[in-house]
Amino acid sequence: MTIYLHNVRYSYMPGTPLEREALREVTLEVRPGEVVGVLGSVGSGKTTLLRLLKGILEPTSGEVTLDGEAVRGPRGVTKLRAATGLVMQEPELHLFAATVEEDLCFGPRNLGLGREEARQRAREAMESVGLSFDEMRSRNPLSLSMGEQRKVALAGVLAMRPACLLLDEMTSGLDGEGKRRLRLIIEGIRDEGRAAVLVTHDFEELGGLADRVAVLAEGRLLACGPSRSILEDPELLRKAGYGLPPLLELRLLLKERGLDIEWGTGDAEELADRIAGALGGLCGGAGR
Ligand SMILES: Nc1ncnc2c1ncn2[C@@H]1O[C@H](COP(=O)(O)OP(=O)(O)OP(=O)(O)O)[C@@H](O)[C@H]1O
Ligand SMILES: [Mg+2]
Repeated sequence: MTIYLHNVRYSYMPGTPLEREALREVTLEVRPGEVVGVLGSVGSGKTTLLRLLKGILEPTSGEVTLDGEAVRGPRGVTKLRAATGLVMQEPELHLFAATVEEDLCFGPRNLGLGREEARQRAREAMESVGLSFDEMRSRNPLSLSMGEQRKVALAGVLAMRPACLLLDEMTSGLDGEGKRRLRLIIEGIRDEGRAAVLVTHDFEELGGLADRVAVLAEGRLLACGPSRSILEDPELLRKAGYGLPPLLELRLLLKERGLDIEWGTGDAEELADRIAGALGGLCGGAGR
């Protein structure tokens, strides 16, 4: 399932004094089996882009297509919504039922699944995010911690098995273990030939995970390409309002000095291992 945004513009509150153009002429394709990162500073249009991919918003101009067919009218929008699963930036907006179980089963039940099958989907999704279904099922979602709410919101979307998973700043409330699990989930989605779009303003979380990265600045697409070429382009990152993160800077400085270390996941420990490994041959087994 391929979603294509062609020359899309989006304005909030058009024709009013509060009109705000949030996206300008954005063209982007999301293909099956692909993880696309979207990077951009605060207010650059990332969430708006996800709302268009989800069919919550329709473009002011330009076109969205799903497998080559224009998304128009209620039928087109329904198809797009069924193909995509959005985990919003604010997890509490997802959670509305009296118990976690009801919340998790709501989506799968709406897909027409029976009670048992929906519960099985919910259980698997909770396991994949690292929560116990049995311990949580009777809890009120709003009594959960922020991180737990995020995980339950993610599990609720995963239980629907969307062809394209859309994540808005998903890692911001997660600890190291939560981030590791999320990585596995996203890699699993790619392996199954589904797609994921990861929106973040923290680009270290995209290294080694995104196949392609799109960079937004003030609603415009500054660039989109293979993740390494984007994440290691200091000029581009500066234009998008970023400084280079220290680890990436270290990697680039080492490269300038002739030591080209694979970036991997961007994790400090992993990078340290890689550097030590590369130096091992030179300084007698420094590597682990
Ligand atoms: N509901 C709304 N009504 C009016 N303007 C909005 C609305 N939502 C967003 N905007 C404006 O559209 C622009 C893009 O907002 P968006 O939420 O897409 O940014 P973002 O990149 O997701 O930011 P953040 O990193 O803070 O989440 C901003 O200038 C914002 O003020
Ligand atoms: Mg946002």
